[in-house]
Amino acid sequence: MKSLRPIRVAKEDGEKESQPLSPMARVFHEPNSNVYIVVIMGFKTPINSDVVKVNLAQTFLKHPRFSSLQVMDEENGGEMRWVRTEVNIDNHVIVPKLDPNMDCPDKFVEDYTSNLSKTTISRSMPMWDIHILKVKTSEAESTSILRVHHSIGDGTSLMSLLLSCTRKVSNPTELPTLPTLKKRNPNDSAGFWHLLLKLWMLVLLCWNTVVDVVIFLATILFLKDTKTRLKGASPVGSTARRFVHRTISLDDVKLVKNAMGSTVNDVMMAITQAGLSCYLNRKYGDDHQKDDEGAKGKNNLPKNIRLRATFCMNIRPSAGIPAFDDMTRKDSEARWGNHIGYVLFPFTIALKENPLDYVRDAKITGDRKKATLESKFTYFMARFFLNFCGTKMGNFPTQTTLWFSNVAGPQEEISYFGHPVTFIAPTLYGQPNALMIHVASYENKMKIILSADENIIPDPHQLCDDLQNSLSLIKDAVIKSKRAAEL
Ligand SMILES: *[C@@H]1O[C@H](CO)[C@@H](O)[C@H](O)[C@H]1NC(C)=O
Ligand SMILES: *[C@@H]1O[C@H](CO)[C@@H](O)[C@H](O)[C@H]1NC(C)=O
Repeated sequence: MKSLRPIRVAKEDGEKESQPLSPMARVFHEPNSNVYIVVIMGFKTPINSDVVKVNLAQTFLKHPRFSSLQVMDEENGGEMRWVRTEVNIDNHVIVPKLDPNMDCPDKFVEDYTSNLSKTTISRSMPMWDIHILKVKTSEAESTSILRVHHSIGDGTSLMSLLLSCTRKVSNPTELPTLPTLKKRNPNDSAGFWHLLLKLWMLVLLCWNTVVDVVIFLATILFLKDTKTRLKGASPVGSTARRFVHRTISLDDVKLVKNAMGSTVNDVMMAITQAGLSCYLNRKYGDDHQKDDEGAKGKNNLPKNIRLRATFCMNIRPSAGIPAFDDMTRKDSEARWGNHIGYVLFPFTIALKENPLDYVRDAKITGDRKKATLESKFTYFMARFFLNFCGTKMGNFPTQTTLWFSNVAGPQEEISYFGHPVTFIAPTLYGQPNALMIHVASYENKMKIILSADENIIPDPHQLCDDLQNSLSLIKDAVIKSKRAAEL
């Protein structure tokens, strides 16, 4: 915590607003995990920035976290506290003057967002801002980039706040709906075999959790992923990043999901595993090609690459859209904040003859990872490590190759302060790893968003292509095997 510069703020009377930061919020002030959430949104209409400002004052500014400074309390041993402040909305809404007829608007928006990752927000104001780019791109009439320091809250909290500012386009008085998690049918038949099965599941759960915790601890201490062209050597937290995103069809994903009896998440992990394998195979091929002309098109992957994703999971019981009053109420504060657990998700990096094998693999790992309390345990570990071992926890993500996060978005078309939304692309920067992949659903679409350290991954668009191609390959294989079954 030495790196923090104390800011003195006169204590308000009453003083009940001044709460200490939670341990998880403090993690994001560690030097190697000074993380910002970035939400890129595209709109079908030009943005009216005055309308956005007026509405933000009615929504974001009513939220205590978005109108509080994070202040170092020197009298209490450098503890950080939330202190309410007056917010000047003009400091938080940035509308650069742009040439609407510029040459490459897509490239401009991408560069602008990437440039943001080279900067931080001053702690002398609440740590969030929104950039409004009034320029037409290939995907949207206008774009906004919301940037929020991760100490303010996690992706789930932020998505809830953002969605509470939106309405269904089909019914402008109604809040959008999020997909609900299917609950397993509770079968209360209390037969002997049923009880035995339950007992067996419990034993399995305990065993899996013990195994996962041991691997997790080993990972923090020494167990690193293989060094590949996707992985940086050391913490790379503060380097500039490039954000690229791609839209795929959620219906295609569901087609595969239903055919394979898996989940949407399994399919997304399968696409990722296939895409990363293809990308790495090309890289190894390029390396070989210097001395071997025929390396192209072959399997160039070395055996036994250890490549894992740190899967960031929301550990709240549910992630609905709370009514705005609910979210800001003191007693419902448990919902707001940082409630993230980590699960280590191992990938098999290999080229498979049958693309469906990627889905089978991902389903096996996915099912295994459902039967563990790893995420709950790591959530408490984060607190434990922060209290006892300082920054060790902040360094652990560099041991794995990538971070992965899955965000469920609204199922209907929504409008944000009256502007119909074409896409929502959440991502992060400041985290100490070279690659972060988000997948976010919206309507019948799925956005894949990469946040890449360009020093290590100079061609993130290529990686996006590989992920997109993997879905096509898997989908084609599903259709083919369906046809074969019908004959
Ligand atoms: C990004 O930063 C570079 C270097 O400072 C600058 O030349 C460029 O114009 C910036 N791009 C955008 C889109 O802001
Ligand atoms: C519960 O389990 C019993 C025996 O395994 C089965 O016969 C019954 O159909 C199940 N009920 C439901 C609602 O799944």
